[in-house]
Amino acid sequence: MNLGEGGAAHRNLRLAVCPVERQATKSDRLLLTCLLLFTAAASAQENPFTTPQDVEQGRRLFQTHCSYCHGSRGEGGRGADLTNGQYRMGGSAAQLYRTIRYGMPGSEMPAVRASDDDVWRMVAFVQKIGSAGLEERATGDTAAGKAAYEKKGKCSTCHSIGKEGGTLGPELTDVGRRRGVNYLEESLVKPEAVVPINSRAIRVATNSGQTIIGIRLNEDDLSIQLRDTSDSLRSFLKANIKEIRRDQPSLMPAYGSIFSAKELSDLVAYLSSLRGAQ
Ligand code: HEC
Ligand code: HEC
Repeated sequence: MNLGEGGAAHRNLRLAVCPVERQATKSDRLLLTCLLLFTAAASAQENPFTTPQDVEQGRRLFQTHCSYCHGSRGEGGRGADLTNGQYRMGGSAAQLYRTIRYGMPGSEMPAVRASDDDVWRMVAFVQKIGSAGLEERATGDTAAGKAAYEKKGKCSTCHSIGKEGGTLGPELTDVGRRRGVNYLEESLVKPEAVVPINSRAIRVATNSGQTIIGIRLNEDDLSIQLRDTSDSLRSFLKANIKEIRRDQPSLMPAYGSIFSAKELSDLVAYLSSLRGAQ
């Protein structure tokens, strides 16, 4: 499932760190094995840029390249909270360097366009804030939020947690790790404000008079694939399509008027507690 920008990052990463795998299949498991080997070999490398001046420059670079997703203090938002010192891809200087240099394949975390020296300076800044504990903590009741998710919200018709649930909306198994509290709240109240790259809604009108609304999965010159609102995969030849509209509203309902303020804060607490498979 590597679409669009994620797919490109994926390929670049493979070429950059893992030339022996160039001919390998597209299996994510191979890539992972390769990354782990690479990690073991390179995690000893130290950061050559750690003076207070480097950290300060890193802070400024972070404002330019990273803060619109991670928040100006790294507290998270569209991107992960960076103040709790927990990293899926590893927290050594060399591992952070690789995450920031190449991005995280299959996620919205992009490769940065900056010199190697500047990447090291951002690593120094990220390591500095890694123990800041600024984390915007959700204050709601997690158990009540879980109940609202399952019953009143019927969120699982479109979302899955673990293996359970629908696939029209993004999987939420680890959404609390990937997204900050403010972003989660906004997703519920103003879904159109924060549509993830891979979840853009489109409307396809065919020559035969059908209209299908769904999430765009893939597209090339000849065809387009989408997941329609009843959660089925659909594929169309462009020759049979009259029009594709990309200005569709989000398929995520707005819940601001459905839930009370307390229910919303409980839901956010529940979502924020979802940190991936244990
Ligand atoms: C377009 C939004 C976006 C931008 C810009 C962005 N990030 Fe991220 N970043 C993310 C998301 C989303 C994640 C969580 C990915 C995941 O775990 O699936 C993430 C994760 C991370 C992580 C955690 C990695 C781990 O091992 O868990 C670090 C560190 C990080 N970003 C640093 C940076 C730095 C430094 C920059 C600027 C050079 C940056 N990011 C720019 C969205 C972004
Ligand atoms: C009709 C299908 C549908 C229902 C029902 C639904 N969602 Fe969504 N949701 C989506 C779609 C599609 C997206 C992606 C587009 C967007 O963000 O606007 C999304 C996005 C999200 C996101 C952002 C995920 C990310 O990684 O950016 C969160 C969080 C979320 N939904 C939570 C919920 C919760 C909680 C409920 C129940 C109260 C719910 N959704 C009900 C379809 C749905």
